[in-house]
Amino acid sequence: MKQRIFTDAAGLDNYLRETGVGKIMLVCDGSIEYLKLNEYFKGLPEVIRFSDFTPNPQYESVISGVKLLKQIDADAIIAVGGGSAMDVAKCVKLFSNMNENENFLEQRIVPNNMRLIAVPTTAGTGSEATRFAVIYCNGEKQSITHETAVPEAVLMDPSVLETLPEYQRKATMLDAFCHGIESFWSVNSTDESREYSKEALRLIMEHNQSYLKNEKSGNAAMLRAANIAGKAINITQTTAGHAMCYKLTSLYGIAHGHAAALCVSALWPYMIEHTDMCVDPRGKGYLENTLDEIAGVMGFTSGKETAGYFKEFVEKLGLKKPLPDNGDYKILKKSVNPVRLKNHPIKLTDEAISELYHRILD
Ligand SMILES: [Fe+2]
Repeated sequence: MKQRIFTDAAGLDNYLRETGVGKIMLVCDGSIEYLKLNEYFKGLPEVIRFSDFTPNPQYESVISGVKLLKQIDADAIIAVGGGSAMDVAKCVKLFSNMNENENFLEQRIVPNNMRLIAVPTTAGTGSEATRFAVIYCNGEKQSITHETAVPEAVLMDPSVLETLPEYQRKATMLDAFCHGIESFWSVNSTDESREYSKEALRLIMEHNQSYLKNEKSGNAAMLRAANIAGKAINITQTTAGHAMCYKLTSLYGIAHGHAAALCVSALWPYMIEHTDMCVDPRGKGYLENTLDEIAGVMGFTSGKETAGYFKEFVEKLGLKKPLPDNGDYKILKKSVNPVRLKNHPIKLTDEAISELYHRILD
């Protein structure tokens, strides 16, 4: 499916007309109030809002969403937000054709034609381009994956980024940056995913300063970069940078993209030093070429130089460093998801992971 992309509300409006969408279920949180785009949705005749969810959305919220969708008999779901609104909207769509008297998480997903349209309000997660959704049920993280969770259309309106708080602006950009890098070196990379990674990295390198200054052209480019990096991880999934970052977020309350960038900053030079530990079936030479290729795309001549640039780039953003307690390293080491580590091109032993967390936090 080729995802339709619009850059302003007029484009989306035409699309809704073309496809005969009347009644809309708008999945959004309170931050929509700060967006110019809110006026557009207010002007549409049949929009029913659904905001009964929290960050790290709960399964119960999705059940309420499915009920509402059926009750109003909507023609489309439009998700406006960062990761959480998108996760909820994806699950509402996926579960909407299933038996509501049984636990949705224990059933096979029944594909359906409900239109799902995404309006990302950060340039980071790339969730609008992926088949993945994450919700929580009884405190347990549930990952839901289905091809039909990928939104068919996306509105990438740069004006939504104008009011983004500075920390979020920086952290979400770093999330997209890490998606581009991790997907590039993932053992699951393909020619297609690598093309997406290249494009995303080029856009980030070219436009990060304009984006950080909150200029329209930079905002538009970063939305594109995040979307394309999302397409890359939709193919490859992420690697050790993401596998290692989740606990940093919950332990120190730092943003996901910030945590991922700290991990990638430490991982990258470590990988260059340890290509002999390569587990990518394409071999050590292939991995070394990949690291060189990433350097070339980012405008450098060696992997070492590029890894150094990335570390400095993150440091220059001036994000606060977490302050660990002694016992944290044990907790962090235990937290790493082994399934996601399998996507990483070099073997990371327990000792390696410990060393990396020390490099990140000391
Ligand atoms: Fe991420």
